[in-house]
Amino acid sequence: MYIFKDYYNNEVKLSFDDHPFSKKPKHVWTICKHNSSWLLTEHKDRGMEFPGGKVEPGETAEYAAIREVKEETGGVVDRITYVGQYYVTGKSGNIIKNVYYAEVPELIKQPTYYETNGPVILKALPANIKQHHLFSFMMKDDVLSYCLQKVEKIRFE
Ligand code: GTP
Repeated sequence: MYIFKDYYNNEVKLSFDDHPFSKKPKHVWTICKHNSSWLLTEHKDRGMEFPGGKVEPGETAEYAAIREVKEETGGVVDRITYVGQYYVTGKSGNIIKNVYYAEVPELIKQPTYYETNGPVILKALPANIKQHHLFSFMMKDDVLSYCLQKVEKIRFE
């Protein structure tokens, strides 16, 4: 278990165990690979981030992860795997989010990308991402760095 502060100084607990905080988390976030690049979305207010959002009533967290990738990037998930889960102790409530890793070979143009401007394909994430004003606060805590390390070890056979 890793414990650290996020961009807003909220405490974050991150674990790579199997759903350590909740079997039914209400939020999901998906680290997406598009061929050899990263696939992100550009949120209209927050900036660039990996796609994600809330689990809707009646859907599984994994289904929500796949749906959010499609809605925010047009990406069609080929393979997806659970990476870990984190718990944020916020000032006005707590959230629990599943992190997934997905391979997304195909993008289909969408009529709307909801609260985002759609897909962003990046060869690499900038080394100074924590200070970079074009990136979302979600990309600015150690969830990203620890999960990227974990993703490097995940290889779909
Ligand atoms: P809606 O307006 O209902 O869509 O939700 P919201 O904007 O209040 O956001 P949400 O319920 O998703 O999250 C509430 C708060 O939790 C946010 O303002 C953040 O402070 C925090 N939060 C949400 N997601 C993350 C995350 O991925 N990482 C971190 N560190 N904090 C998060």
